[in-house]
Amino acid sequence: MTQSSENEKKFYNLQGEVGYPILGEASQLFSKNQYFWLERFYRYGSIFKTRIFNMNAVCLAEPDAYKLILKDEAHKFSSNQGWWVLKPFFERGLLLQDGQEHQRSKRLISPAFTRGSLAHSRKNIEETVERYLIEHIENEKIFSPLPFFRKLTLLIICRLILGYEQDQEQKVNKLSQLFLDVLAGVSSVVRLNMPLTKYRKALQANEDLQNYLILIISERRQNKLLSGSSSLLDILLEQREQDGDYLLDREIASQISAIFFGGHETTANLLCSSLVQLEYNTSWQEKLRSELKQNSSKSFLSFYNDSLFNNIINECLRLNPPIYTIPRKVIKSFEVADCKVPEGWYIILSPLLTHRIPYLYSDPEAFDPLRFSPPREEHKKHPFGFISFGGGAHKCIGQDLVMLELEIILTYLLREYFWKSHNQFEYLEFLRHTAKCIKLLKISLYS
Ligand code: HEM
Repeated sequence: MTQSSENEKKFYNLQGEVGYPILGEASQLFSKNQYFWLERFYRYGSIFKTRIFNMNAVCLAEPDAYKLILKDEAHKFSSNQGWWVLKPFFERGLLLQDGQEHQRSKRLISPAFTRGSLAHSRKNIEETVERYLIEHIENEKIFSPLPFFRKLTLLIICRLILGYEQDQEQKVNKLSQLFLDVLAGVSSVVRLNMPLTKYRKALQANEDLQNYLILIISERRQNKLLSGSSSLLDILLEQREQDGDYLLDREIASQISAIFFGGHETTANLLCSSLVQLEYNTSWQEKLRSELKQNSSKSFLSFYNDSLFNNIINECLRLNPPIYTIPRKVIKSFEVADCKVPEGWYIILSPLLTHRIPYLYSDPEAFDPLRFSPPREEHKKHPFGFISFGGGAHKCIGQDLVMLELEIILTYLLREYFWKSHNQFEYLEFLRHTAKCIKLLKISLYS
């Protein structure tokens, strides 16, 4: 038997489905989104196969598998080839780098996102949020929160990177617009590089975005001593490896556009799901409101692990993880649960499914923030049991920024407003079709 037919045989022996010829299960995946994975998880458990077009994939939800794959000490998995869908736009961003190239970039970029650097920007983020919300919220008007929060989170990340000086405002606006043009192509299913297609326009916008960022960076290198600003861009420009190695201008430009991508849609999604969860679970909303009333320091403690606020946001992240699948391509075969997974296959890890494993989380679909508190601390039962921000080599660099943004935005909304959604989703429908419900979501705020 040849190697490839032997691999085929192994694939067919795994539990799961392969769908139709040519398409595989692509049409079910695109129409059901996260419910596609949930359905199969409830049917087959935490390891199953699927085929999307001609790509064989094994979905693994057991936390032990994450340790092996996400730490990837033996260099058997590629994030670059796993996230192939992002390649035309973010090829040189952290998420699409592997091995030593990735380790170097991560060492040079991470210092810009530490709690210390973010704490310096807290006041400025608060002002950005307050100004945006005051300008854009109309009492009792019905609106779609997803685009509303996308704009805000993109604004926050652009300002954080460029700095808060008056003269940066025009650049912030231009960068946001270019980036939104790129995004229109990232999500397009038809990827034809032909005149007038969304995809071609997005590729062009991406080139413009890179060039514009390089211009800003070289300007900043020249004027740095004069500006005295401590934006994340300035921190990135100052980073040096022990041997003096540093990120070149075009490397910084690529990393920044990938950071825009990683950092705005995900956070906007989390904001929406938090509002919905707090509406369904009003007693938790009331607890937050009363904590705010008693607390004269004006905010929650987002960096304090066992705060009421953190436990509630973690529970939203557990039930509705904005990134619900993490793909990798196998570049050297490996074994898991008695199954040899050959080179060339795809692995799908899924926070959505892992967070519903009953031996990790009791009554997994219940909204129960106390599960994060001592003595239960269910998220600590396994080092990879709570993985909304991934883990291992590619762990999210924006985790602390997310908690800070959520804290500032929700503090403002809870102090000033109540909210009501205008859709009739059943709670279970929201849990199982979160992405679709959030896209359709309409809410109004009232004081
Ligand atoms: C709720 C919001 C967010 C969630 C749920 C989230 C989730 C994740 C996950 C699961 C990964 C790992 C992906 C993988 O291993 O393939 C990741 C990586 C990443 N995230 Fe986030 N993220 C969020 C917000 C942010 C923000 C605000 C930033 C901006 C600084 C950001 C920047 C990144 C970057 C650059 C990576 C790649 C890291 C690497 O490859 O080493 N993320 N994120």
